[in-house]
Amino acid sequence: MKTLVVYYSRFGSTAQVAQGVAQALGAELRKLELARWCTVGSLIIRTFLRRYVPLKPLDVDWKAVDRVVACAPVWAGRPANPLLSFLRHAPLENKEVAVLLTTGGRRNPGARAAIEEALRGRNVRLTKVDMLSTTKVSLEELRQQGAAWAQGLAR
Ligand SMILES: Cc1cc2nc3c(=O)[nH]c(=O)nc-3n(C[C@H](O)[C@H](O)[C@H](O)COP(=O)(O)O)c2cc1C
Repeated sequence: MKTLVVYYSRFGSTAQVAQGVAQALGAELRKLELARWCTVGSLIIRTFLRRYVPLKPLDVDWKAVDRVVACAPVWAGRPANPLLSFLRHAPLENKEVAVLLTTGGRRNPGARAAIEEALRGRNVRLTKVDMLSTTKVSLEELRQQGAAWAQGLAR
């Protein structure tokens, strides 16, 4: 199964986690970037208004990808808007998607529903949504925790 790992990170923690995931899976890694810079506050407001932001195009051979693992922080109880934008607009039809969210340790009960809403109406199999707290965790430990999480994914 060919896996692609994508991530959005504002302050660097999720980037470390995603690197650990990609390394453990031997997968390609791509960074999600906004087409135009936005403040975190304006991205959060857009999430609550259900508006998605444009992202820079990714250099990916989508036909060769069977599974996407997507990593992003939680902001105000929801996955960061760039992740939701990616899930909404990327050509994910007939692929599996697993999501690993980084958090400050809260429960964030609305996070999964926001992901399901972004994928609604698409033929995408959402296999996993998990959360990993990055509070007081070193960069090296973040990579290790990302790798350990990836070991739990089916090969
Ligand atoms: C504006 C903002 C809002 C946040 N809201 C939440 C939240 O609702 N729940 C939570 O558990 N963590 C929250 N966090 C913590 C982040 O999810 C966590 O620090 C994440 O790992 C940051 O990822 P990054 O370093 O890749 O940007 C918030 C952080 C920021 C900056």
